[in-house]
Amino acid sequence: MVRREDVTLVGKTKKFIQVGVGGHGAAWVSKFMPRLVKELKLAEPAAVVDINPDAFALPREVYGLPEGKCYTDIQKALDENPADFVIVVVPPAFHEQVVDQALAHDLHVLSEKPIADTPEATARIYQKVKAAGKKMAVTMSHRFDQDKQSLEHLIKSGEYGRLNCIIGRNTWDNRKFASWGKFRHEIPDTLLVEGTVHHFDIIRALAGADAETVYAVTWNPPWGEFAGDSNALVTIQMQNGVKAVYEGNKTSATRLNGWGNDYFRAECENATIVLDSRRLTVMSDLSGERHIVEKPLLQRDAWTNAWIAEMYVAWLAGGAPPPCHLEDNLQCSALLFAAIESAHTNRPVDVQDFLAKRLKSQQAACAAGGLLCRGKQNAQGIALCT
Ligand SMILES: NC(=O)c1ccc[n+]([C@@H]2O[C@H](COP(=O)([O-])OP(=O)(O)OC[C@H]3O[C@@H](n4cnc5c(N)ncnc54)[C@H](O)[C@@H]3O)[C@@H](O)[C@H]2O)c1
Repeated sequence: MVRREDVTLVGKTKKFIQVGVGGHGAAWVSKFMPRLVKELKLAEPAAVVDINPDAFALPREVYGLPEGKCYTDIQKALDENPADFVIVVVPPAFHEQVVDQALAHDLHVLSEKPIADTPEATARIYQKVKAAGKKMAVTMSHRFDQDKQSLEHLIKSGEYGRLNCIIGRNTWDNRKFASWGKFRHEIPDTLLVEGTVHHFDIIRALAGADAETVYAVTWNPPWGEFAGDSNALVTIQMQNGVKAVYEGNKTSATRLNGWGNDYFRAECENATIVLDSRRLTVMSDLSGERHIVEKPLLQRDAWTNAWIAEMYVAWLAGGAPPPCHLEDNLQCSALLFAAIESAHTNRPVDVQDFLAKRLKSQQAACAAGGLLCRGKQNAQGIALCT
């Protein structure tokens, strides 16, 4: 068991308001936050918000919040409860309005992925958070799971030589309406926005680089009860020369690699490393006969969102930012929306060019809309607006 003293943040309990406590927000309440709140005492719920009051029973029970701290009106919740940060667990189309409220109340932001549902909203959130000088991180849960972290560790150990390419696969049997959560069957580009964004981030982490170009083909087969595309084949070239191929399929007749059971193969100079349904294997025939070695997974007290939340409050308390901080995650969103652009135009897209253009056009839109650019710039010299 981890002791509070072990994380050296004694006396630095951070207060939070969680927006969205149904759906995945319920997992935040029951699985991800209790360790920080009850065991480490590094975070304390000040209030929760949801447009559906039926969702309040769980946080009342787990967080022990009185009825008066459960709000359907976000502004009232933030007006009445001093806090350090908000946790955003509402569908992506509503992320920006929650971030706006948080910034208006001088709060930091820990948000579920993706940053937003469009490149324009993503660029606005990025610019507003940076200009406000607030700390935002995005919970890319699957990249921070035990099996993917173990694969990343093996690749980066250098023991198997240089990394050549990465092959990834996730297939699920979610063809029936609402079997993947109702809103995911109604939004455009659903697989990429709600699913593959995780795998893009995992590929970035495994490759140790951001994306240079992406080519994506996406579609929905006749039996997929989705408004947006639910299948994708994606090819990516990373900035360090590593190549990646990814297959995602939400309408498969069988689930080969669902959430938490990913398939990723890393072709390294001296070995092939395979992660398949949480089993990690290193293979090589280079000595003249096949060697197959199963590798143990890394161990630590918490993974996924619980670990990210722990890193996040440590950042708020003066520590280092978590790897999924906003600036880093902007590259994940850039790859996501460049892949969507590629799928819509049937041509490869230069990811860095795509990102720079979106940030610049957003800056122009801010200026036209009377928003202030207070002379602040990001590392690429692009103005940040408020
Ligand atoms: N990291 C992961 O593994 C993972 C898994 C599932 C969902 N998510 C993310 O979590 C977020 C929420 O997804 P979900 O599956 O919980 O959606 P959902 O529709 O199942 O639940 C959303 C909850 O937010 C509430 N809500 C909706 N709009 C609101 C608003 N404007 N203000 C306050 N409350 C509002 C709803 O009443 C509901 O309780 C999304 O960003 C999604 O991508 C991440």
